[in-house]
Amino acid sequence: MLLDRLNRPLRDLRLSVTDRCNLRCTYCMPAEVFGPDYPFLPREALLTFEELERLTRVFVGLGVRKVRLTGGEPLLRRDLPELVGRLAALEGVEDLALTTNGLLLPRLAADLRAAGLRRVTVSLDSLDPEVFGRMNGLNVTPDRVLDGIEAALRAGLRVKVNTVVQRGVNEAGLSELWRALRDRATVRFIEFMDVGNHNGWNLASVVPAREVLARLTEAEPGLAFRPVDPAERGEVAARYQDGAGREVGLITSVTAPFCGDCSRARLSAVGVLYTCLFATSGTDLRGPLRAGDSDEALRGRVAAVWQARQDRYSEERGEASARAQSKVEMSHIGG
Ligand code: GTP
Ligand code: 5AD
Ligand code: SF4
Ligand code: SF4
Repeated sequence: MLLDRLNRPLRDLRLSVTDRCNLRCTYCMPAEVFGPDYPFLPREALLTFEELERLTRVFVGLGVRKVRLTGGEPLLRRDLPELVGRLAALEGVEDLALTTNGLLLPRLAADLRAAGLRRVTVSLDSLDPEVFGRMNGLNVTPDRVLDGIEAALRAGLRVKVNTVVQRGVNEAGLSELWRALRDRATVRFIEFMDVGNHNGWNLASVVPAREVLARLTEAEPGLAFRPVDPAERGEVAARYQDGAGREVGLITSVTAPFCGDCSRARLSAVGVLYTCLFATSGTDLRGPLRAGDSDEALRGRVAAVWQARQDRYSEERGEASARAQSKVEMSHIGG
């Protein structure tokens, strides 16, 4: 089995299929930075579906079992259901998922399901139109995302919801959000992270996950949570259930980092391989691929990168060395 220098296997592959997005979340693609003149990637620079399928097969040959499509906003990539169909059909891909802001799900959910997708993760930070509008940078209202969630459920997709929690921004509405969605989706609250270079992160704006849980219980007399065992090794969310079996997930990347089990590789839309969400550099695979590398040669390149890997950024966060360098943007590797 392929292991990195900290003995972690390669299990998950996250494929970014575009760096564009139809929202401008302040913590990810702030509008002041990602404005009308921002140089987004030209179409010909993106890996084609054939290239994505081929590279995924190479990664599966090295142990990958879970594949997630991300962005930017992956549903902006033209004909995405076709890519889903290709990846869903690959032997060895046991779990295929998609992270989306949900806005295009009313249009695409049925096609995605028909192509072989079984689940989606939808980002939604607040049900308060004013708060959500501010966080997504474009005054988009939460009901548009809720429509997307409904469309996904109607199409037969299982739904998880990701909520980034920021101190003083959306923390007051967390219980309302969980209550509105808990019977239909698994909500996961994410500690605000210092990804990319533009999101104005500081430790004071992080609400520790244990405080999120306390907020949920305080809001409903009689509510109590018990921890649930992880469904698999390396799972990012700590899971809890209430007495009625309704789940909540807490992603504690700041207060309790989970690098020790991190089995995730990330491929940007132009084919650069990153071995950490907070990486400062990656390894180009598109060049060798387009220059005619065989599958075997590509497998060798990926294996060499993984074997050399020793990333554990979230565990090193406080250290000056971890803060100094320019990091890859979230919109290039999809979270
Ligand atoms: P599931 O298989 O559905 O559980 O997916 P997942 O756990 O991979 O979840 P998802 O991709 O939705 O990740 C949720 C959020 O957790 C991401 O958007 C990131 O903010 C954070 N996250 C995911 N992977 C990592 C990671 O490797 N490191 C850190 N620090 N955060 C991560
Ligand atoms: N901190 C935590 N989560 C983030 N995401 C994007 N930026 C951040 C950040 N700075 C999450 C979004 C979405 C996924 C793509 O990543 O909520 O669910
Ligand atoms: Fe777009 Fe998702 Fe980033 Fe928001 S978090 S700007 S929806 S990619
Ligand atoms: Fe993995 Fe890097 Fe996240 Fe740690 S910080 S869990 S090594 S992606």
